[in-house]
Amino acid sequence: MNGDERGRRLVVLTGAGMSAESGLKTFRDAGGLWEEYDVMEVASIEGWHRNPKLMTEFYNQRREQLAHVEPNLGHRILAELEGFFDVGIVTQNVDNLHERAGSTKVLHLHGELTKVRSVRDETRVRDIGYSRMEFGETDTDGSPLRPHIVWFGEAVPMIAEASRWVAGADIFAVVGTSLNVYPAAGLIHDLRPGTPAFLIDPNEVALPSKSHFTVIRAGAGHGMELLREKLMDLFPAPDPRQR
Ligand code: APR
Repeated sequence: MNGDERGRRLVVLTGAGMSAESGLKTFRDAGGLWEEYDVMEVASIEGWHRNPKLMTEFYNQRREQLAHVEPNLGHRILAELEGFFDVGIVTQNVDNLHERAGSTKVLHLHGELTKVRSVRDETRVRDIGYSRMEFGETDTDGSPLRPHIVWFGEAVPMIAEASRWVAGADIFAVVGTSLNVYPAAGLIHDLRPGTPAFLIDPNEVALPSKSHFTVIRAGAGHGMELLREKLMDLFPAPDPRQR
């Protein structure tokens, strides 16, 4: 980051609601994925040990669906904001819609659908795009492959890095997460006191009582339009003639 960007580090924590307007279901809303599926059967490490075939198929379906959806207005505005802010996105989403919208600094806390990895060595990650991972498929070293997803019951390797990003934020926003799942939900406690903070969600989200968030009660697309307006007012782009 150069001197011009000082004071303009915008960190955004996103969740499933960010991608809802692209047609991907959230988890905990009415009609959400966890009404249709048992979360412990398809998204926990115990589930993987019990029935890896079922879980492989669950993620094959999610990957297939991802190939047929597009980034929405919210994703696109976040990407455009890179023209004015040093934007870092910490996402709980395993889709790639932020990247496809053009965002360049995206940290995936819960893994990525388009990747698989060796069960024995978590550093052996392979990009498979939107193709299927067949049950029983192995890595070149002979280890079985698994989806590159952080499941319930597993550590969240990127949390320390995410925490550093949030602690370094000059402006912070939360978009489309129920803040139910830790450690991701705890990231808001890493904010420096007095950091301007915004929350976009069409529904009520429980925030810690002392929090000073400006709440924008809207979906991700319209909410991001409103946030862009607020940010442009509060943090006008530096005059290039004064550089
Ligand atoms: N725009 C913005 N937010 C929306 C929209 C929308 N159009 N529609 C729904 N929401 C909000 C809901 O009101 C809710 O607060 O998105 C949030 C979705 O919450 P969850 O379904 O709990 O999703 P998330 O917070 O991302 O879940 C966290 O839980 O199951 C795990 O690993 C999974 O990463 C996921 C984690």
